[in-house]
Amino acid sequence: MFAIPLSQTARSITDSITLAITARAKAMRAEGLDVVSLGAGEPDFPTPTNIADAGVAAIRDGYTRYTAAAGMPEVRAAAARWFGRHFGLDYRPEQIVVTAGAKPALTLGLTAIVERGDRVLLPAPYWPSYPDIVRLAGGVPVPLAARADQGFVHTGEQIAAAARQHGCKGAVINFPNNPSGAVPSRTQVEDILRAAQDTGMWLVSDEIYARLIYEGEHVSPASLPGGAERTIVVNGGTKSHSMTGWRVGFLAAPPEVAAAVARIQSQALGNTCSISQRAALTVADETDDTELAQRLAAFDKRRRYLVEVLNATPRLQLDLPNGAFYALLDVRDICASLGLDDVALAERLLVEGLVATVPGSAFEVPGFIRLSYAASMADLEKAVERIRGFVAAVS
Ligand SMILES: Cc1ncc(COP(=O)(O)O)c(C=O)c1O
Repeated sequence: MFAIPLSQTARSITDSITLAITARAKAMRAEGLDVVSLGAGEPDFPTPTNIADAGVAAIRDGYTRYTAAAGMPEVRAAAARWFGRHFGLDYRPEQIVVTAGAKPALTLGLTAIVERGDRVLLPAPYWPSYPDIVRLAGGVPVPLAARADQGFVHTGEQIAAAARQHGCKGAVINFPNNPSGAVPSRTQVEDILRAAQDTGMWLVSDEIYARLIYEGEHVSPASLPGGAERTIVVNGGTKSHSMTGWRVGFLAAPPEVAAAVARIQSQALGNTCSISQRAALTVADETDDTELAQRLAAFDKRRRYLVEVLNATPRLQLDLPNGAFYALLDVRDICASLGLDDVALAERLLVEGLVATVPGSAFEVPGFIRLSYAASMADLEKAVERIRGFVAAVS
């Protein structure tokens, strides 16, 4: 039989582990098992009504045609204002590209700056898609081991040393971080930017959780002196406005990079869905944050609950995450005593405890498991009870 060999690129790309775990939990539920899933990185709230209405109106009003590859002019202009209003970033509309979410923004942004074989530094813990996205762009991912002892924020010195050792062209950073929830201080971001400047690296800054912060402030490296010229910023309403399925996001970059990203997008994807772009216009133009504050308060309550009860459980440790909606549970003690790694522990927790989580190894942070608190309080309470029961049973 004639078998068409797949390309090297295709063979190098893996399935999304978080999607696989969510699918597995769903399949177990379909078999009648009462699985609680803390696996998905998706807000449990619906898209706010005004945004959904903007999408419906877009269809009715005929916004159903091709748009400019870089996005509708009014959306790019509104996004530029939004970057300024919330993050102190100073972009002109032509520096903005409206993409089909943060993921394509990362792929297109990296494609614009990475030559075949270029190394790209990935300070861990990092979102599992990064290595694959780097490979898709033709680059070689270079993981930098996580520093739990530093609250999961590397020093500039550590980043610069790794960049020099491996000759990296750029680094992908993500704050607030998935999975640790880390939010670095201004000084720490300055330090990271200095490392990029000293080593001549690009920074691709994934800021998709930037509006979900409980403690501290979001500092984009692009807002610091000398930062914007070497930073590609990726952001949007996906997580803050429960728009995971709409597939729309914003990329901001130096003008020549934004133009290159728009060209690549025009040939690879055409344009971002016109209806979603109109909905994103509502996100970008919004000045009333009342509803967002309500969602944040709900996440905050869940976050505090998890930290309180899990820290009161022997052999588990959980530092308070400052942003996003993930908690990175330290299971090194229990793994050591059971002679298991975090992958095997997460598997046992799923099969015996009926709680779906994501092993830290997926984020290059072995010895931890990620719990998503984008789940109802009732589900969190059930999950916590099961986790505590599991720990007691195996201790
Ligand atoms: C760090 C990070 N970046 C990007 C994304 C993807 O965002 P989008 O759905 O806008 O492509 C996710 C989603 O889980 C994420 O956790």
